[in-house]
Amino acid sequence: MAGRLRPLFWRSGLMCPGKQAGEINVHRVDRSQEQNPQHSEQASLYIHWPYCLKRCSYCNFNKYIPRSVDDDVMTECLQQETRTLLQLSQVSQISSVFFGGGTPSLARASTVAAVLETVSAHARLREHAEVTLEVNPAPAGRTALRDFVSAGVNRFSVGVQSLNEASLRVLGRDHDPQQALQTLAEARTLCPGRVSVDVMFGIPGQSVASWESELEEVLRVCDDHVSLYQLTLERGTHLYKQVQQGEVSMPADDVTASMYRSARNVLEQAGFLQYEVSNFARHNAVSTHNLGYWRAQPYIGVGPGAHGRFVPRALGVVHREARTQTLEPDVWMREVQQHGHATRRRIQLSQLGLLEEVLVMGLRMTEGISHQHWAAFSPEVSLHQVLEASADVQDLQQRGVLILDDRGLRCSWEGLALLDSILPVLLLELDTFFHTRRPADGQTER
Ligand SMILES: C[S@@+](CC[C@H](N)C(=O)[O-])C[C@H]1O[C@@H](n2cnc3c(N)ncnc32)[C@H](O)[C@@H]1O
Ligand code: SF4
Repeated sequence: MAGRLRPLFWRSGLMCPGKQAGEINVHRVDRSQEQNPQHSEQASLYIHWPYCLKRCSYCNFNKYIPRSVDDDVMTECLQQETRTLLQLSQVSQISSVFFGGGTPSLARASTVAAVLETVSAHARLREHAEVTLEVNPAPAGRTALRDFVSAGVNRFSVGVQSLNEASLRVLGRDHDPQQALQTLAEARTLCPGRVSVDVMFGIPGQSVASWESELEEVLRVCDDHVSLYQLTLERGTHLYKQVQQGEVSMPADDVTASMYRSARNVLEQAGFLQYEVSNFARHNAVSTHNLGYWRAQPYIGVGPGAHGRFVPRALGVVHREARTQTLEPDVWMREVQQHGHATRRRIQLSQLGLLEEVLVMGLRMTEGISHQHWAAFSPEVSLHQVLEASADVQDLQQRGVLILDDRGLRCSWEGLALLDSILPVLLLELDTFFHTRRPADGQTER
């Protein structure tokens, strides 16, 4: 059984509609259990810059290729929405900030500085808070990286994607391997030990051997953090059309499974510790911002199409809400100018919805979900109570892909590669437990 790995579309608070691994139903509302308010005062912040210079063949993120960008209006709107959402939330401290996109390295450094100033004016920005900027290697239109550092950025995530000329062409990237290497070197000089690279595998034309040698090359030039994404064929993209028309073909599932397996081994041998399905770090250079998502900590999402999860300030409300901002940049700007923010959808997360997120996100991490972590969200019902009696869960444990012990719940090394097929089993158990076996309010099982 080859579990299909999905790239982590959530890592930047930008969830592409309809593509979340283990889709979460946030529509159910359950007021019977109050959610833990201790998680409401600190949050991370995601800022979405929606513009790119060119459309990559595989990408269906929320991005636009405009003729021109009004940087001043965009900056004011990002500041305004940051201000409003901070004021609407119970959040008083921001632990990390992530500028993602689109291509936020096309933004002006003064935009980044202005947003960070707004954060500091309306919340405490934690000392030495991680401030990440996604950077595209193409030099055209890009602000010098050193200006971003002066603006407050202290971590770069460079979208290398591939160091192979032919792969970059298939992906429709607007840079060559040399430009990627230059950008990486520049980023490393400015933020040593705090540079991540995004690399893709499962690209048409790639073999396990060519992928391995490409990864070896990445390892020779990279810093202390690597994010590996399996190329996913997304409907509506140019690549999708090309595959449909037989112009190119995607590698077979067993080939991509081998690529993932060998990459994990190669990275491990190079001293990188895998801490999440797609993420590897050495010298503990983990992304604290992304860890926040996987640990189901609150976050505020600002900008077109951004997502957030936080507790609103309204009197007496302790439930976390899922918020989605308007997708299209011009409409988003108009709404921000009119209402101070452009929240298109607000859904109160039910207790079950929240626990589903804790499960889906937490199992992406190699550490999994500790009992203490689970109890912070579910003080009344333990992981053992939810899962222990299930024959399907026992089967996963016997097959050695899932571990439920004194530490908590996690995937084994083999199991992490099969996460997408493990999660539906666990979500079904959780759902069934909630609807049939959950103790009445105020009671606990022994
Ligand atoms: C949407 S991009 C934004 C950052 C920047 N614009 C770039 O291209 O590097 C963030 C990451 O998502 C990943 N990504 C986007 N679409 C993907 C797909 N269809 N399959 C796998 N990974 C994808 C890429 O690895 C990329 O580095
Ligand atoms: S540059 Fe990044 S966000 Fe823009 S189209 Fe390419 S992959 Fe998507």
